[in-house]
Amino acid sequence: MEIEIRSPLTQTEWEAYYDLRFRVLRAPWNQQKGSERDAQEAEAEHFAVFKEQQIIAVGRLDQLNESTCQVRFMAVDPLFQGKNIGKSLMEFILIHSQKKQEKNVILHAREMAVPFYERMGFQVTEKSHLLFGEIQHYLMQKK
Ligand SMILES: CC(C)(COP(=O)(O)OP(=O)(O)OC[C@H]1O[C@@H](n2cnc3c(N)ncnc32)[C@H](O)[C@@H]1OP(=O)(O)O)[C@@H](O)C(=O)NCCC(=O)NCCS
Repeated sequence: MEIEIRSPLTQTEWEAYYDLRFRVLRAPWNQQKGSERDAQEAEAEHFAVFKEQQIIAVGRLDQLNESTCQVRFMAVDPLFQGKNIGKSLMEFILIHSQKKQEKNVILHAREMAVPFYERMGFQVTEKSHLLFGEIQHYLMQKK
């Protein structure tokens, strides 16, 4: 599949970017529109997977300190899950973080996504928070 990975640029692309986040990570738990964004959007780096003009996967990278960054809001359009899109996106983000000399990459994975991140070289460090009272998360790290 021919894909391109880059930050959204136009207003339309930004709307599609946040909408995919909302549809995959918020709507199934009856969360309100707007809950897919937080106060760090302006400082973070954003990655969208484009197939032709359409955004089919998204992810965000936050700089936590000099040596550590955190992957957040990873979501693949349900129509494109299980087709190695998430893997391509995560590989792209990891290469990007290596270029920036990051030593550690961390993330909080939903329980069902833990095996995906393990395949990408992450290890569970500890059990972390419970989202919406039901989605157990695990802190994972890749050195
Ligand atoms: C989790 C998610 C990001 C994975 O992306 P994806 O494009 O569906 O996964 P890929 O097709 O790239 O899978 C890469 C590898 O991980 C494996 N994998 C993916 N999801 C998995 C799962 N839930 N359980 C076990 N293995 C999984 C695949 O089998 C594949 O293995 P392979 O390389 O041996 O073939 C995506 O399915 C998603 O957005 N899910 C819903 C939202 C979510 O949970 N986001 C993460 C929040 S922490």
